[in-house]
Amino acid sequence: MIKCITCGAEYGLEEIIYTCKECGSILEITCKPDVSRDIFDCRKSTMWKYKEFMPVDESRIISLQEGGTPFIKCNKLGDQLGVKLYIKVEGSNPTGSFKDRGMSVGITKAMELGVNTVGCASTGNTSASLAAYAARAGLRCIVILPSGKVALGKLAQAMFHGAEVISVEGNFDEALEVITSLALDGKLYLLNSVNPFRLEGQKSIGFEIVDDLGWRSPDRIILPVGNAGNISAIWKGVREFYEADFINDLPRMTGIQAEGAAPITNAVRRGAYDIIPVENPETVATAIRIGAPVSALKALRAIYDSDGLSETVTDDEILYSQKLLARSEGIGVEPASAASIAGLRKLVENGEIDKGEEIVCVVTGHLLKDPNTAINACKEPINVEANVEALSRVLKGL
Ligand code: F0G
Repeated sequence: MIKCITCGAEYGLEEIIYTCKECGSILEITCKPDVSRDIFDCRKSTMWKYKEFMPVDESRIISLQEGGTPFIKCNKLGDQLGVKLYIKVEGSNPTGSFKDRGMSVGITKAMELGVNTVGCASTGNTSASLAAYAARAGLRCIVILPSGKVALGKLAQAMFHGAEVISVEGNFDEALEVITSLALDGKLYLLNSVNPFRLEGQKSIGFEIVDDLGWRSPDRIILPVGNAGNISAIWKGVREFYEADFINDLPRMTGIQAEGAAPITNAVRRGAYDIIPVENPETVATAIRIGAPVSALKALRAIYDSDGLSETVTDDEILYSQKLLARSEGIGVEPASAASIAGLRKLVENGEIDKGEEIVCVVTGHLLKDPNTAINACKEPINVEANVEALSRVLKGL
């Protein structure tokens, strides 16, 4: 069943619908399989390990074996901050971001519905992922990107997998508005996270975190927030496992935004359930350069209902944390993902996070998604002649 999160109106799973016909609010899928947690034992570690919780026909899944991503204990960084830190590395998904989980379900649904064209607006990763999964399914794929603001790795992926890539002179919010109009005209099946099937895939991050911890929740899950789908999805995932009695505690959901694109954090500061859109969002973390997040209401509920938090970080804090994570733990992530680490550091510093808390930071996309930012943050390689003397002059103290 597809259900409106505000008025509760219900729609069939076969209906192509993105917002409630009664009240215009956003939708979610209700899912309560009657299974025991033992069924997951010995299954391959992909997100389809939890297939009973996915609202699609399991006989025709379109998959690239997404999910089952590394869950890494980070003692060096954790000790430095006085917390017990795990990192969920979503950059290890097939196209290098968590979007693959959502696209696997979304494209499987598109095939069930018999559509032939799919589309999205994107700050980059959604388009990279959609392009790959559409290619695998043999569907036409149209992606709309904010001109000049998409990191190179993501653009390369979308184009290389054969999507029809269009740049609009505008930001992500404007791109999403145009493609939504096309979808409402029936021209394509929209696979942005306003499509509730996307979040069904992404909720598996929540499943995996509690499974990785031996069937319990961490004290807190921290992640970057842009269009606000992922925080909503992860919360839905842990809640479903809680309601199924697989776990008996819940984590505090903590969403981090870039200072120049922080409508959710601003709403939390006001204690509100609605956002004031940011007209001209700006941040080095282009993935989360979003001013009017579609899933804001779901995200705000996740934060309030879990007794969570939302905080902003500056571009400098993001870039510092990106390098810190890469150099202290060997985990390479794109700037938006590093917002979760930057947020953790800030919340520890200002005392909002207690010493000793068990924290899971979700890092959402791979370092190589944004090679320019990575290269600009480093000194250029030193050029020398190919002989030992020249090398020795450079490598002093070797
Ligand atoms: N991290 C990365 C690497 C992302 O690509 C995104 C969103 C987010 C975090 C935020 O997740 O939107 O669910 O709150 N990227 C979208 C895109 C908007 O088009 O690729 P969210």
